[in-house]
Amino acid sequence: MRWTVSSTAAIDTAADLLVFPVFQKNDEPDLKPLAVLLGKKSSKQTLAGSGFTAKAEALLPVPSADVKAGWILLSGMGAADDVDLETIRKVAGRVAAQAKSMKAARVLVQLPDAKSLPFDDKTFARCWVEGAEMALSPIGALKSDKKKTPTTPREWKFLAGGRKPAALRAGTAEGEAFAAGCLLARDLVNLPPNYLTPIDMASRARKLAKAEGLTCKVLGVPEMKKLNMGGILGVGQGSMNPPRLIALDYKSAKSAKAPKITLVGKGVTFDSGGISLKPGAGMDEMKADMGGAAAVLGAALIVARLKLPVNLQVIVPTAENMPDGAAVKPADVITMANGKTVEVLNTDAEGRLILADALCYAEKRDPDYIIDAATLTGACVVALGSHFAGLMGTDGELIKTLRQAGGETFERVWHLPLIEEHKKMMAGTWSDLQNMGGGREGGALTAAAFLSEFVGDDTAWAHVDIAGPSYSMKPSATCPKGGSGFGARLLARAVQILVS
Ligand code: BES
Ligand code: MN
Ligand code: ZN
Repeated sequence: MRWTVSSTAAIDTAADLLVFPVFQKNDEPDLKPLAVLLGKKSSKQTLAGSGFTAKAEALLPVPSADVKAGWILLSGMGAADDVDLETIRKVAGRVAAQAKSMKAARVLVQLPDAKSLPFDDKTFARCWVEGAEMALSPIGALKSDKKKTPTTPREWKFLAGGRKPAALRAGTAEGEAFAAGCLLARDLVNLPPNYLTPIDMASRARKLAKAEGLTCKVLGVPEMKKLNMGGILGVGQGSMNPPRLIALDYKSAKSAKAPKITLVGKGVTFDSGGISLKPGAGMDEMKADMGGAAAVLGAALIVARLKLPVNLQVIVPTAENMPDGAAVKPADVITMANGKTVEVLNTDAEGRLILADALCYAEKRDPDYIIDAATLTGACVVALGSHFAGLMGTDGELIKTLRQAGGETFERVWHLPLIEEHKKMMAGTWSDLQNMGGGREGGALTAAAFLSEFVGDDTAWAHVDIAGPSYSMKPSATCPKGGSGFGARLLARAVQILVS
């Protein structure tokens, strides 16, 4: 989709559809702005008998000879006081779907009155673009029936009226970058596991690096052996598809002294559970066990497009967890990159094993912050459901930043405890650590406690367990069924806040 800004008048700008936001006042549509466009009488007539209340996400398409576009789409915003960033995204998402169903290729968006929103034009444009792009993110690329229909709507134009187009343009560019990162993450999550093996993940990371001007290094099995990465190698050894460790680097053009931030994402391209095999029902969803990898790659795209003043490293340990004669068994003891030994009590607790080596690798560069994202535990889904990710960590500022970023992107996080008692539960009998402890009790928390063993004492580190929100077969206003891309926007926004 193409986004532009124009100062032409709504009445005589050529298009297929004019989107006109309508707010509620005392539960009734506030028709004043529409009356300015159409006159008092016809603005009333337009709504007569429609039942349109202007509540958020409500839509009313009306044919109109008064505007060159021929159609006006009244889009309910709800009461101005209740409008937040996510309202804008959702409304834009509904509008985009409606425009698509009307086959409207060119869409105009009338800016709401400057006084009616508690945020500026740039923010409005950013969220609108994000919402529309995200709502129409394509799925079904592998269906054989490939009718080549062009993306509809194709061209969007914000009508700036008398306001500054520069702010809208800046917002548009940001929105496009954030949406692109989210869509990349969704595409990766939705890929079937036979289309996205660890090797495929590495080639997609290389492609991303090439397109966005990053450097990309991929470690294969011999290199990982040299670094004693027993976690990644152990998880990968039961599969025909060998594991990889991917490291992307984005360097700020502005300054070598920019903060060093490292993002680590769990990239299990399929999690069968291994020898501790999962039950059959729903196992297909474990193609999405690389949602953390997708999130950090999406975030890298956003950071690069926005040219943020940061030195960013993105690390993806990636493996396929399969049962096999060569697979790791319960009771096997493996040695991780930092020398710590781990008894694998349950081969289905594999995410923490590959992340452990990746965190050791991340530490080498001595970053100012490390954030990992992972579809790590079913326990986190039980605790928080699918609208929140679990957030644990060692640094108050980083936690605060992620909570702020979560509120703004609506990729929400909930802070959970990281405590010594849980670390003790992960102490091993035959080894330093074991990869399970405490049975079902506090599963998300003990997993985080395990990871903390591979992070330096004075590293500001946060762990985001995205097992719940990463994948859903229920579509929403801004997301078709499947991968949500959760984490890409959250992490990029967190980076943006940390370096601002
Ligand atoms: N990939 C799963 C966690 C998961 C569950 C992600 C549901 C998305 C939806 C992870 O590897 C796993 O299997 N964790 C186990 C850990 C347990 C064996 C300690 C779990 O949560 O049951
Ligand atoms: Mn597992
Ligand atoms: Zn897993």
